[in-house]
Amino acid sequence: MKEKKVRVFAPASVSNVGPGFDLMGFALNGIGDEIELSFSKENSIRITKIVGENGKLPYDPQKNTATVAIESLLTKHKISVGLDVKIIKKMGIGSGLGSSAASAVAAVVAANELLELNFTKHQLLEHAVKGEMAASQALHADNVAPCLFGGFVLIRGYNPIDIVQIDYPKNLFCTIIYPQIEIKTSDARKILDKKVDMKTAVAQAGNAAGLIAGLLTKDFSLISRSIIDLIAEPKRAALIPCYNEVREAALSNGAINCNITGSGPSMFAFSNSKAKAKSIANAMKKAATKKGLQSKIYISKINDEGPLILK
Ligand code: HSE
Repeated sequence: MKEKKVRVFAPASVSNVGPGFDLMGFALNGIGDEIELSFSKENSIRITKIVGENGKLPYDPQKNTATVAIESLLTKHKISVGLDVKIIKKMGIGSGLGSSAASAVAAVVAANELLELNFTKHQLLEHAVKGEMAASQALHADNVAPCLFGGFVLIRGYNPIDIVQIDYPKNLFCTIIYPQIEIKTSDARKILDKKVDMKTAVAQAGNAAGLIAGLLTKDFSLISRSIIDLIAEPKRAALIPCYNEVREAALSNGAINCNITGSGPSMFAFSNSKAKAKSIANAMKKAATKKGLQSKIYISKINDEGPLILK
């Protein structure tokens, strides 16, 4: 049996980005999860250790996003091998920062590397998406795709999955506030309306198209007026006790716009300089504290790298 071990980091991500529910996301720098993969004596996939999030994540390989993703990859390609999986969670679960996606992506990238499979990211994507489904109970790739490919990603469609990498202004900074509460994506999806009316659908499509056009043409004013979500934010803002105050603090300190990341509770604010990103961060944190919520703050440019093979 080979002694080789592979450790992979996969980044956190911001999904939805306002009007792009299930359709848009971008990767972040500095935050993410890691997976360590090695060959096992058993002929099965085992989770040997989960570091962080004590006790909250399942050790059952059929239920954990990382192992569901690996199993999907091995089953599709009829690969029979025993693997030991160590999961190192570095961000909170239920944060809205794509933690389950990061674990699923790190897992398939690690399997690809350890087993020397040489699959492309497009080939790995469907398996990471299946892993993500184990956590959120829904098919959405707006965390998995940016986490795997890096950059700002549009999912043009799901059948088949159609990924478009979107260029963006290089001086676009993102401030993240992660209020220390947990929101399960599966719960935050249940509260959404199952249907949207024509007027809402038209307005949402206009904003989504406007955001993409704004990013491509580096038009901050267009980006700003396009980050409006008529589908998820009106329902989900109430799940974040400091939402209005934090958003207001970001906007009055020069944010291009501010909205929920994924299903929350984290929120993102765009700005056009690091100095602004920092003062927005201070203002957002102060506003959350005033509402009695502890929070973590991150400042990041969009991460173009995606996952990193650490060893
Ligand atoms: N698009 C998904 C949702 C992202 O909003 O439910 C979950 O992180």
